[in-house]
Amino acid sequence: MTKKPVGFAHGLTNYGDLDFSLYLRRSFARSMGYSKEMLAKPVIGIAYTGSGFNNCHRHFPELLEAVKRGVLGAGALPVEFPTISLGEVFLAPTSLKFRNLMSIDTEEMIRAQPMDAVVLMGGCDKTVPAQLMGAVSANRPAIQLIGGPMMTGRYKGEKLGACTDCRRFWAKYRAGEVSDTEIGEVEGQLAVTAGSCAVMGTASTMACIAEALGMTLPGTAAIPAVHADRLRAAEATGVAAVRLATSGLTPDKIVTKQSVENAIRVLMAIGGSTNAVIHLTAIAGRAGIDVSLKRLNELSDTTPVLVNLKPVGNGYMEDFHSAGGMGALMREIKDLLYLDAMTVTGETLGERLAGEKAAWVDRTIISERAKPLEPEGGLVALYGNLAPGGAILKRSAADQRLFEHEGRAVVFSSLADLAARIDDPKLDVTADDILVLQNAGPNAPECMPEAGYLPIPKKLAQKGVKDMVRISDARMSGTAYGTIVLHITPDSASGGPLALVRNGDRIKLSIQRRTIDLLVDEAELAKRRAEPRQTFEVPKRGYGKLFADEITGADLGCDFRFLRATP
Ligand code: FES
Repeated sequence: MTKKPVGFAHGLTNYGDLDFSLYLRRSFARSMGYSKEMLAKPVIGIAYTGSGFNNCHRHFPELLEAVKRGVLGAGALPVEFPTISLGEVFLAPTSLKFRNLMSIDTEEMIRAQPMDAVVLMGGCDKTVPAQLMGAVSANRPAIQLIGGPMMTGRYKGEKLGACTDCRRFWAKYRAGEVSDTEIGEVEGQLAVTAGSCAVMGTASTMACIAEALGMTLPGTAAIPAVHADRLRAAEATGVAAVRLATSGLTPDKIVTKQSVENAIRVLMAIGGSTNAVIHLTAIAGRAGIDVSLKRLNELSDTTPVLVNLKPVGNGYMEDFHSAGGMGALMREIKDLLYLDAMTVTGETLGERLAGEKAAWVDRTIISERAKPLEPEGGLVALYGNLAPGGAILKRSAADQRLFEHEGRAVVFSSLADLAARIDDPKLDVTADDILVLQNAGPNAPECMPEAGYLPIPKKLAQKGVKDMVRISDARMSGTAYGTIVLHITPDSASGGPLALVRNGDRIKLSIQRRTIDLLVDEAELAKRRAEPRQTFEVPKRGYGKLFADEITGADLGCDFRFLRATP
C-alpha cells in the first residue's frame, strides 16, 4: 500500500486494514461486471446531471456515451455518478438557492469517491458555476464539458430563441400588440431542441467563462447541443480527462488571478450576463481570489463589446459557434489577456491561441477590434449611498437615454407587493419614475430571484413605454435587457439602505460617474433607520436554515461563508 493509489484504490474506507479495504472494494466493484484488468485502470469520474426536471440536459445520455468512449479509448475506466441537477425554470423559489448545494454535492462526491480525474457535465444556468465551485474546492484534476446551447425555432419566418424572445413577445402581449392565440403559438417555438438558452444568457456566458478560465477544451463553449461537433467535443473531453489524470494538473493551477481576469475580459467582450459576476466571484472565492468591482470597472472600461448576440445584439449562440466562437473572440482581444494562464490541456492560453489557424470569422457576429459594437465593456459596477457595497448594470442592454437620469421612486416592498400592484390602473407612475423593488436580495425569503427585470406597468406599456430605470437587490436573467440596476449590496433584508427608500424620494443614476444615489438628507435617513424594519420568518431547519445562516452578499458571490477558501 505504499504505491501512489490509482483508480479504485483512491480514498479507501478505513477499517484499520487498508489491504482488506481494497480487497473488499474490488470484490464489490466486480459485482458490476468489471474485469480485473479494468479495475486496475485509472478511473475518470463523470459528474452526471441528466434529470427529468432539466430540459437543457435532455441530450446528456448521448453525451455521456461519447465521454465514456473517449475515456475508454484513452485507456481509463469511465464511471459516472449523479449529482443534483438544476433546471432553471423548474426550481422554486429560485435556482440560485440551490447552486451552493450542488457545489457541495459536487465537491464532496469528487473528494469521497475513488477517481483520478473528473469530467463535469453541465449546461443550464447554475450547473456550470456550481460544478466549477465544487471542483476548485475539491482540487482534483477536473475538466468541464459544456452541454451546449439550443438551436433557434421559427415563427412566421422569424428566428426565435429562449429566452430573450420569450420576454420580447410577453412584453408585446402585455401591451396588447400580440393576441392570445399568437402568444400560445410562439410558446411552442421558443425552446425547440435540447440545450441551454439560445442567446448570450447566463448559461452561455458561463460556458464562455469556463473556456476563458481554461477549464474546458478549446473551442467547445458555443457548440450547439445537438450538433455532431458537440459529441466529438464530449469524446475529446473524455480523452483529455485521462491525460489530466496522468499529468495531475489540478484546478488551483488553472483558476488563478490571471485566468479570472481573462474571464472578466471575455465577459465584457461578449456583453455577457450580470449573473456571471456573482458566479465568477464565487468560483474565484473558492480559490482564494477576490473579484473587486473597482477592478471590474477598470477591465470593463478597457474592453470593447465585440459579440453581436441577443440580448445585446442580434444573433444567437449557433451563430457565434459558426462565426468562429471563443477562439476567434479571444484572438481579437489577445493583447488584453494573460497569455501565460494555464489551461486544462496543459497548454497556456497563449500557446492555444498561437496554435489556432486564423480561420474565417463572421464579422457580423464577432466584430474586428477596430470596429467594436461598443468601445467599452457590457457591464459596469455602481456605487453610492444606495449601494455602498456596489451594484451592477448591464449598460450594453440599457437605453442610453436613461444613462444619466434622476427620477421619483415608486417603491414595491416585496415581490408579493410588486405582483399585487404593478398593473393596478390606479398606480401613481410615469415613464420618468424609477421603479424600486426591495427585499429581493440574498437575505430575502425568495433568495435573490431573477426579479430585477421589473415589468413596465401595464398602463405605461400600453402607451408604448419600453424601458424605465428599475433598481433592486435582485438578479436579472441573462436573457433580459433594460436600464436595470441589480445586486444592490448590502441587500434590503439585511438592513441595506435600499430598505430606506420611500415613494416619492428622488434617486439619481449616473453611468458616467458610476453612481446610484438616494437624494434624501442624512437626518431623514437616520430617522428611517430607527423605525422598525420589515422582518421575515427565517427557516428553522434543513437547507433553508443553512442558507439563511451562511449566505454572503453579491459582493462575495452569494457563496456560503464556510465554503470560501480559507486564507
Ligand atoms: Fe437552462 Fe435557460 S433554462 S439555460
